[in-house]
Amino acid sequence: MYSDIYKNIKIKENATILAIESSCDETAASVVRGGREILSNEIMSSCSEHVRFGGVVPEIASRAHTAAVSLVTDAALKKAGVTLKELDAIAVTYGAGLLGALLVGVSYAKALAYAANIPLVPVSHIRGHIAACYLNNPDLEPPFISLLASGGHTAVMFVKSYTEFEIIGQTLDDAVGEAFDKVARVLHLEYPGGPNIERLAKTGVPSVELPRMFKGDKHNFNFTYSGLKTAVINYTHGREQAGEPYSAADVACSFQCAALDVLVGKTILAAKLKNVQTVAAGGGVVANGYLREKLEKACKTRKIKLYLPPKPLCTDNAAMIGAEGYIQYTKCNFAGLDLNAQASVEL
Ligand code: KG4
Ligand code: ZN
Repeated sequence: MYSDIYKNIKIKENATILAIESSCDETAASVVRGGREILSNEIMSSCSEHVRFGGVVPEIASRAHTAAVSLVTDAALKKAGVTLKELDAIAVTYGAGLLGALLVGVSYAKALAYAANIPLVPVSHIRGHIAACYLNNPDLEPPFISLLASGGHTAVMFVKSYTEFEIIGQTLDDAVGEAFDKVARVLHLEYPGGPNIERLAKTGVPSVELPRMFKGDKHNFNFTYSGLKTAVINYTHGREQAGEPYSAADVACSFQCAALDVLVGKTILAAKLKNVQTVAAGGGVVANGYLREKLEKACKTRKIKLYLPPKPLCTDNAAMIGAEGYIQYTKCNFAGLDLNAQASVEL
């Protein structure tokens, strides 16, 4: 029986793990050694197929994953120079994400684990974003403050150990990436909104006054983005109704500053609160140049050591699943062939 493999398992410190990610519109596979060293990192995106719909269409994403999953996996193994037999485990994102999309990766990973008779490691996509900072950074170790800023989550966490987190604050409504995507739509920018707002913001100035909710509040580490989004809508609609022109670039720039200044402020306050001198960040929004610059400046002034993954490791990828998969593997957190996908998982 497949589950018998867990009876006498020997955990290897330098385990070679194949990771598979399919939670949204990226089909990705990566081979990671010892949780830190990327041997390969392959990705195929169905992003262009969703543009005309203004967002990810779950059915289209699932079909694209089905077509891509074996191609990216084969490419990842080939690039790493590793055969299925040489793997120590297969890690897969089981949630959070689009159910149909997740199921493609989960089913494929199960079949591979069964065929190779090696452990299957279930990985939370959210924890994957946090673990991305471990990749190529052998010196990063808990405790540290982690800023998670993606399309689905916004939180500041105290990472006590590789597996124990304390949420210091999180969004009460929209995630920051979601706010970027919604504001992009208001400004008639194409999906994905975040990178397009960043591009447009470069040509504008932050002249529109927008709320920076809870910024500087030392007793409230939570975030809220629905008010900021409404403020942008009120501003643009107000101008349109009055027949007054406005600069979309200035709105984009003002929104970007308002949305991201709060993240930087809370991250620094959290480091102070927990008395730690190390900060790491992860998630698609951390690919934003303005946020990276602001974080770097704020940390440098306070002599805080900052770890930012390179941009391709901020947005969805499988290497981060390999990094978190390794942590779960060392803790013997394995799954059986009854592993199911979950649309949402706890932070
Ligand atoms: O982490 P991610 O790839 O997927 C989720 O797990 O959600 O994050 C995607 C989010 C989207 O909302 C996207 O608009 C945002 O990250 N994003 C950005 C940038 N690149 C991606 N937001 C601001 N600036 C960017 N450069
Ligand atoms: Zn993600």
